[in-house]
Amino acid sequence: MSLIARMGAMLLVLFIAVPIVSSTSIGSKNCTKKEFWSKDNDDCLPIGGPLTPPPPPPKGKACPPSTHYWGKKQGCCVPLNPSPEQGPPPQCRGAWVWKSTVRSCVPVPTPPKPSPPKPSNHHHNGHDNNGHGGYRQKRSALLKSRSAPLCPTGLDACPISGAKGGDYECLDTATELESCGGCTSLGSGQNCTAIPGAWNVGCEEGYCTVYTCAGGFKRSKDGKSCIQL
Ligand SMILES: *[C@@H]1O[C@H](CO)[C@@H](O)[C@H](O)[C@H]1NC(C)=O
Ligand SMILES: *[C@@H]1O[C@H](CO)[C@@H](O)[C@H](O)[C@H]1NC(C)=O
Repeated sequence: MSLIARMGAMLLVLFIAVPIVSSTSIGSKNCTKKEFWSKDNDDCLPIGGPLTPPPPPPKGKACPPSTHYWGKKQGCCVPLNPSPEQGPPPQCRGAWVWKSTVRSCVPVPTPPKPSPPKPSNHHHNGHDNNGHGGYRQKRSALLKSRSAPLCPTGLDACPISGAKGGDYECLDTATELESCGGCTSLGSGQNCTAIPGAWNVGCEEGYCTVYTCAGGFKRSKDGKSCIQL
């Protein structure tokens, strides 16, 4: 009995030891202390990203804003930090998707729509259907048009920072990753994709939630940030 148990224990040790040894010998190349080995890119990459601003990706490609930047030498997006083990694919902006064969975000081909969405009219009721409205209604119509509802109900008009001529975009700040809980261009809300070390994030009811952290980070207890290990 005890012999069998001891042999079992030895087998167990072997099984545990083998993968540990092989995982450290495979994949770790001769990187400096400030670099990590990226198996996907077959290269040593600077931990936390490059010191000089990377070039923008070529047209038709983009990099996941929170985790990657364009690697000129590699010709694809490279990560700022090691990828999480068995993590989800990197998170692309908007409707773009990560294409692992080109290691970049590419636009999703959208089927042609039957007709472009018409600007919604139902916010201007005061204008359209009451030529006979009394003073109060006219006044309220006036007020409404002055505080111009720029966006459909439920969406916030966020100024596009850097854009000329007061351009804005209509965002659902309850779920918008880069303006979560408010327009980041107005200094409110949070840019979830800027959470250091975050690999996959969400904006849930106006609050950033970290789903996965990059390698070398662990999720904080409240799930709002990633802590460097
Ligand atoms: C590892 O890096 C050191 C220092 O840069 C260098 O001298 C050495 O030749 C490298 N070894 C391999 C196997 O590349
Ligand atoms: C959010 O953060 C990402 C990553 O730092 C950055 O690329 C992006 O421009 C930011 N978005 C806004 C709206 O500031």
